[in-house]
Amino acid sequence: MNILDIIAKKRDKGKLTKEEIEFFVKGYTENSITDYQAAALVMAIYINGMNEREITDLTLAMAYSGDVLDLSSLGEVVDKHSTGGVGDKITLILMPIVASLGIPVAKMSGRGLGFTGGTVDKLESIPGYITGVKVEDFIENVKKIGISLIGQTLNLAPADKKLYALRDTISCTESIPLIASSIMSKKIASGANKIVIDVTCGSGAFMKNIDEAKELARVMTKIGELAGKETKCVITDMNEPVGYAVGNTLEVIEAIEVLKGNIMPEDVKNIITELGGNMLLLANKVSSLEEGKNKILENISNGKAYNKFLELVKNQGGDISYIEDTNKFEKAKYIEPIIAEKDGKIIKLDAYTVGKMSVYLGAGRIRKEDDIDKSVGFVFNKKVGAKVTKGEILGYIHANNEDKVKELLRQEIFTIG
Ligand code: URA
Repeated sequence: MNILDIIAKKRDKGKLTKEEIEFFVKGYTENSITDYQAAALVMAIYINGMNEREITDLTLAMAYSGDVLDLSSLGEVVDKHSTGGVGDKITLILMPIVASLGIPVAKMSGRGLGFTGGTVDKLESIPGYITGVKVEDFIENVKKIGISLIGQTLNLAPADKKLYALRDTISCTESIPLIASSIMSKKIASGANKIVIDVTCGSGAFMKNIDEAKELARVMTKIGELAGKETKCVITDMNEPVGYAVGNTLEVIEAIEVLKGNIMPEDVKNIITELGGNMLLLANKVSSLEEGKNKILENISNGKAYNKFLELVKNQGGDISYIEDTNKFEKAKYIEPIIAEKDGKIIKLDAYTVGKMSVYLGAGRIRKEDDIDKSVGFVFNKKVGAKVTKGEILGYIHANNEDKVKELLRQEIFTIG
């Protein structure tokens, strides 16, 4: 087999065989296929697409290009994944809830890159919390307390890692076959039997409009079916940030307050009940989505989800006194109000803009090796649809650099109509 023939076939709109796809993935992972050859093939896939069988073959070849976690000793593991966004602290809230309802949670999460945040960075805002755990201990933790949330300590889907980085450098990120295979390969490698995917849609997401989001959801559901992993996709809005806080520590605090039952932003409620209800359905713990949604909220009100979160943090070496009293978290030096300049209604709080501003404050990374500032970000008081009066405080910028605060306050964060 020859990579030049494979590139030419896809360039000419042909369908690649399973063997050709496996040849490419193996060769690229092992460096016998060069970046420029891979770039040519990726661009041909971007332009000419792939059918469902080809996408499934690509997914499985990438999933098995490195370690594949065996979670069979844990029973039926239902994983959750988000296609990314701004202010997305749903994993921190939802996973302790489902663990408290008897679904084993063994989840390896990623770090943030660009304007989207990552669960591992958020967890590491909790003093002492260890995200780099050996696989044996990770599985032991789940057996012991029903939940472990850690970073990626295994070499999961290295082919995807290389291809994802390559796509970023050749303007081939927004392609449904490539996104679907990238996400599903990691999910399959991480050992879940069943998968619920939050397909985010809007300015702060990969999928900018509902038609693209529906197509990505359809393709991932189909790949899941063909790969023998029951998959349910839920499309959620990412035009404004999720909840009221954006930034690592600030989001952890918001997640804790939700788990304690002190607050419940409307969008967070919708997302956790939709995703969680579907996870319970897939795990055969309930007989209807409605029953599942009720159980999710019930385990917040009865304190079981919060107790599970405390148990998780303690078991991973974290200092639970910060969870019990969130005032202990280190605060940014400058906490400056964002003031309404006129009366009216908020018509926009753009997720992409807020995400970019958070990166500017230091909450996110531009390059993988960048350090991040855990304490900075935003806490909003108002979201889209709220009526406001001139002079009212709409939220706060948390920053460690005074010039950056001044610069952001000169820009439009909220649009009042
Ligand atoms: N998330 C991924 O893991 N891969 C993509 O290609 C896009 C979003």
